[in-house]
This record gives sequence, C-alpha cells and structure tokens, in this order.
Amino acid sequence: MPLVSMRQLLDEAAKGGYGVGAFNVNNMEQIQAIMEAARETRSPVIVQASRGARSYSQDSYLFHLMIAATELYPEIPVAMHQDHGNSVATCKSAIDQGYTSVMMDGSLMEDGKTPSTFEYNVKVTREVVELAHARGVTVEGEIGTLGGIEDGHGAGGSGLEHLTDPDQAAEFVKQTGVDALAIAIGTSHGAYKFSSKPTGETLKMDRLIEIHKKLPNVHLVMHGSSSVPKELQDIINQYGGKLKPTWGVPVEEIQLGIKNGVRKVNVDTDNRLAMTGAIRKVFAETPEKFDPRDYLKPAREAMKKVVAQRMKEFGQAGHAGDYTPIPLSEMAKMYR
Ligand code: G3H
Ligand code: 13P
Ligand code: ZN
Repeated sequence: MPLVSMRQLLDEAAKGGYGVGAFNVNNMEQIQAIMEAARETRSPVIVQASRGARSYSQDSYLFHLMIAATELYPEIPVAMHQDHGNSVATCKSAIDQGYTSVMMDGSLMEDGKTPSTFEYNVKVTREVVELAHARGVTVEGEIGTLGGIEDGHGAGGSGLEHLTDPDQAAEFVKQTGVDALAIAIGTSHGAYKFSSKPTGETLKMDRLIEIHKKLPNVHLVMHGSSSVPKELQDIINQYGGKLKPTWGVPVEEIQLGIKNGVRKVNVDTDNRLAMTGAIRKVFAETPEKFDPRDYLKPAREAMKKVVAQRMKEFGQAGHAGDYTPIPLSEMAKMYR
C-alpha cells in the first residue's frame, strides 16, 4: 500500500486506545529494522526523518528507500513524517517530496534552539496546516519546549523550563487546526535525560492528563520517549564505550500517557544505542572482520528487537490489518 496519512494512523490508534511508535531513520538498515519489526508484530508504524537525516541521505535516497519499504511490506500501514520541521520551507519541501505528515516545530525559532513566541508559533504552524491539509498531509505542532541540546532540537536545560500550559495548548489547537500536538512535560532528547529513575512527578504526568482533559480529541505526541535501557548502555560500555550513567523515560510512564491521549511516541536514542552496542561487540570480539555487513546485520537485528518490543508495549502490535488506507486526495477533501 502507498504511504498512509499519519492522521488516519492516529485516529485509528485513538479508537483502539493504543499508541504508535514514531521511529527515526537515516539509512536503509534502520528502515529495514522497523519494517521487519512491524511485520513480525503486525503493527502500523510511523517512520520519521529529521532535517539532519534528510541531509545525511541527500533526501532522495531516504524517500526512495521508504517507497521500497511500502512495496516490500504491502500489509503494513506506514506514514512518513518530517520530524522537527524548523520552518514552513522545510515542511513544504517534505510535502513536495511525498511525506504524508510533517511536524512544524514552531515552539523554537528557525535555529532550532531559541524558544519562540506564541504568536510566531501560531503563524508558522497555521501556514503549514493550510498548505499540508490542502494536500491531505497531516500536521503535528508543538507547544512548550523540550529540554536537551545534545541533538540540536530543544531549548536546552532540563526540560522543565518551558512546560506546556494547558490553556495555551487549547488556544494553539483552536488557532492552528493541527492534527497532533507535541507537548513538553519534562522529557528531553538524547541519552542524558535524568540522573536517576524519574517518577510520575519528575515527568509531570498530571500536566499531560490536564491537557488531555482540555483537548480530548487531539492526538498528543510524546517526544524524547527513549527509555535508555541499562542493558543497552551496558553493552556499549562493556565493549569500550564511555556512556555516563543515565535514565530515560520508563515504559510504564509512556503507557500511562497512552491511557491519557498520547498517540504518537517518538523514539530514536534507544535504537541508536542498540545499533552502536551491536557494532562495538563485533569490533571487539572479531577485530579481524572488515565487511560492513558483518556488523550492520547484527546492528539491524538489535534495532529490530528494540522496535518490536516498543510496538508491543505501546499497543500498536496486531493492528496492521484493522483498516483500509484513505488516499491523501480523500483526506484533503475531508479537511475541506
Ligand atoms: O529529535 C531528534 C531526533 O532524535 C533526530 O535527531 O537531528 O540528530 O537526526 P537528529
Ligand atoms: P529520544 O532522543 O528520546 O529517542 O527522542 C526522539 C525524538 O523525540 C525525536 O523527535
Ligand atoms: Zn523530538
């Protein structure tokens, strides 16, 4: 089947009361890992590319790999999403390329670092909604800003400085018409999220529940949702890596979020850790090897394992065959 609208995936997830993992990709092996995990668990899935990923893969390589994925896995509904679009132009170029969903992250200015004003955020997001919906493409907006500057997405700090204000979130949705809303509840991007295991209070789950009560029909998005499992950190460190002790978002907290309106769950770091650990292991144990397939295969397998586990934990497993995809042209009519 062709790439599916993310809106449809999330509407179905809301009906079924589950979450859908949105996994970042940069290359073929990561796409293969996700698609294999989706087939094994019979999951609909969101594949997403950051601006960095698009530039790393010269854009076209990545998009064509996604087309290959739809051909090879026709039974899997898959949406292709621009992660953290920093401007209207970035979102437009993704739509022109054929992405079925875009994030306009107007919570930050175009530099991806400086927190913006509410008015700026509404203006750019509204503009993207107009051009995306006319073509049946889904839009995710963000209100409040995440922590962490490790990967260039986030306002820095701990993630608690710019939490989402529920009233402002409601006003933002009203003024922009976004399909999905990323909220800041204390998560941040990257491996170094917390220096001890976070509780529901560290993570401001009450805030999430309050936002969901005000916006029961809006699909909420949790960024920075890697759990940073100790086992994956240990493999890296066992084979010569130097990760400092760190904690991510416990899966139970994500599941609580899913019970309260979270439909899209963004995971990148856990997959990066899994692949790197597997590659380090091959290098350390068999230093005589030099065929890239000797380490990329185990890396792909390690990522597939993490993705399949998350698919089961988020509840999307088993739902791939639940619905018939609505073409983007139909989605465009529905938005009108
Ligand atoms: O939100 C960030 C994702 O982890 C992608 O990161 O910009 O390094 O590709 P990236
Ligand atoms: P992690 O760094 O926690 O995997 O978050 C990824 C993300 O939010 C991508 O937008
Ligand atoms: Zn993010």
